[in-house]
Amino acid sequence: MNMNFFVNTRVITGVDCVKNNAEKLGSFGDRCLIVTGAASAEKCGALSDVISALNSTVVQYEIYNKIQQNPTSVSCFEAGRLACEIGADFIIGIGGGSPLDASKAIAVVAANPDISEDMLYSMQWKNQPLPIVAVGTTAGTGSEVTSVAVITNSKGLKKSFRNDLTYPVLSFGDPKYTMSLSDSFTRSTAVDALAHCVESFFNRSANDISKIFAVAGVKKLFKVFDKIISDGTENLTLDDREQLYNASLLGGYAIAVTGTAFPHALGYFLTEDYGVAHGTACAVFLNEFIEYNSSVMPELTAEFFDEIRMDKETFKNVVSSVMPEINVKLTDESIAELSPRWENNAGLRRNWGDADTDFVNALLRKLF
Ligand SMILES: [Fe+2]
Repeated sequence: MNMNFFVNTRVITGVDCVKNNAEKLGSFGDRCLIVTGAASAEKCGALSDVISALNSTVVQYEIYNKIQQNPTSVSCFEAGRLACEIGADFIIGIGGGSPLDASKAIAVVAANPDISEDMLYSMQWKNQPLPIVAVGTTAGTGSEVTSVAVITNSKGLKKSFRNDLTYPVLSFGDPKYTMSLSDSFTRSTAVDALAHCVESFFNRSANDISKIFAVAGVKKLFKVFDKIISDGTENLTLDDREQLYNASLLGGYAIAVTGTAFPHALGYFLTEDYGVAHGTACAVFLNEFIEYNSSVMPELTAEFFDEIRMDKETFKNVVSSVMPEINVKLTDESIAELSPRWENNAGLRRNWGDADTDFVNALLRKLF
């Protein structure tokens, strides 16, 4: 099996890891733009930790706190041009997937303030993006260790780019930031991490390295899922939260190699059109993804369940128990309207077998 593995990120995790490594922030320059959502970075304590660390290393900063869930290219251009105006030397993204993905696009725009939206996605960048520091505050995205940015374009569609130049140079993961996550957010981000691992394992680009990360991530997640099913998310300890966080990084390493597969490709419309949280929107397809692979790749499926030491039905029951509920109903007309999205879709091409438009339409009719 040919292998290709590249992740260009120093990852530091653990309680108080930002405070304990403050001097590292000073190595990227004198001035930075901090990128966050409206409130979560402040509420979980990450923003004040980062500001203390910057003050201790005499780095000037400005804060852009207007990143929404499912960040838009408009806000990335606004923040990128702000970073350029203030002469930022680097970008610090604090948050879950939305601020972290946005910080990658912002780092590109900051160095190339005159590019168009098309040029952002097609990676026609004249100048190298600014260095990106990621401070994770959820346990799901894996964006801390990937080069992928998923940004909603001006037509309201999620589009992504991935480039070796948009790996964060440094990522911090302090599990105490995830202690304040709500029940539904904890669940939706946890099943996002699971989806990353599983979609990476059953992926045409998987190799021996990515599969190790994927299997390790699934095993770590399921240990905590047992506790979530028996005791709920409100009783998760700091150690449990750390396990979820580390599993999300393992999922990130796995998809850094492979990208995702059809659960993510299909999940985007549930987020864009129905407001379903990203992880839930993808993981709702996971059990069908397993059935699909059981049919087209029986040996690989057997290898997967052998590796995670679990049978298929137990796996599916656990996924259904941990997933937040979603309530979406699709008509035949709305399924037909969606179908142009499945033509030549990169996320579908990464599956084994032939997950074509007819397959997707039948799946949507079955699930919704
Ligand atoms: Fe995801």
